[in-house]
Amino acid sequence: MKKTILVTAALIFTACNDAPKDSVSYINNPEIAAKGAQTAKAFIESIKPVLESEMHKDPSGVGAMNMCSNDAMRLTSDYNAQLPAGTSVRRTALKYRNEANKPDATDAAVMEKFTATKDFDKPLVVDMNSSYRVYKALPMMKPCMSCHGDAISAEVKSVITQKYPNDLAVGFKEGEFRGVIVTEIKK
Ligand code: HEC
Repeated sequence: MKKTILVTAALIFTACNDAPKDSVSYINNPEIAAKGAQTAKAFIESIKPVLESEMHKDPSGVGAMNMCSNDAMRLTSDYNAQLPAGTSVRRTALKYRNEANKPDATDAAVMEKFTATKDFDKPLVVDMNSSYRVYKALPMMKPCMSCHGDAISAEVKSVITQKYPNDLAVGFKEGEFRGVIVTEIKK
C-alpha cells in the first residue's frame, strides 16, 4: 500500500516536473526582446576582453580556463549588480559544464527549440507571469573551440577533468548551438 502511494506520488511529481515543457508561453514583444538582447550583448562585451587577454597571455588556454572557472560567476554577479533593479542575466546550456548553470524546465524547452530551428539570431521571449525571460542563443564560434570543441588539447582537457568531473560541454562543432544567455526582466 505504502509502496503504491510512493510510486503514484513519484509519477505525479514527474508529470508535474515535465509540465512546464509543454506550456512555455512564447510572446511577441519586440520592446522586451530588444531590451533583453541588448543586456545580453553588453554582458558578452564585458566578459570578452577578460577572456581575450587571458588567451593572449597563455595561448594554451589553461590560464583562460582557470579564469573562467574562478571568475565567471563573479563577473556575472558584478554585471548584474550594475543593472537596473529587477533585471538580471545568467547563462545556461543543455550540455552544461558548471552545475550552477543547470537549466530549469523552461530553459530546457526553449533550448530544445533553438536546437531544432537553428535560428540563433532572433531572441525568444517567454512570459513567466511575474517576469519576462529573453533567451539569446550562443552558437559555437572559433574562439570557443579550445574549451568546448571536438579537439581539445590535453592540457585544457586535464583542467576540465579536474574541475568539472561531470562536464557535458565538450565535443561541439563550430556553428552548433552551445547555450543561451537568459535576461530576466521583472514586470
Ligand atoms: C578558456 C576556456 C573557455 C573558452 C574559450 C570558452 N569557454 Fe565557455 N565555459 C568555460 C568554463 C570553464 C565554463 C564553466 C564555468 C562558468 O563559466 O560558469 C564555461 C561555461 C560556459 C557556459 C555556461 C553554461 C555551462 O556550460 O556551464 C556557456 C553558455 C559557455 N561557456 C559558452 C561559451 C561560448 C559560446 C564560448 C565562445 C564564445 C565559450 N564558452 C568559450 C570555458 C571556456
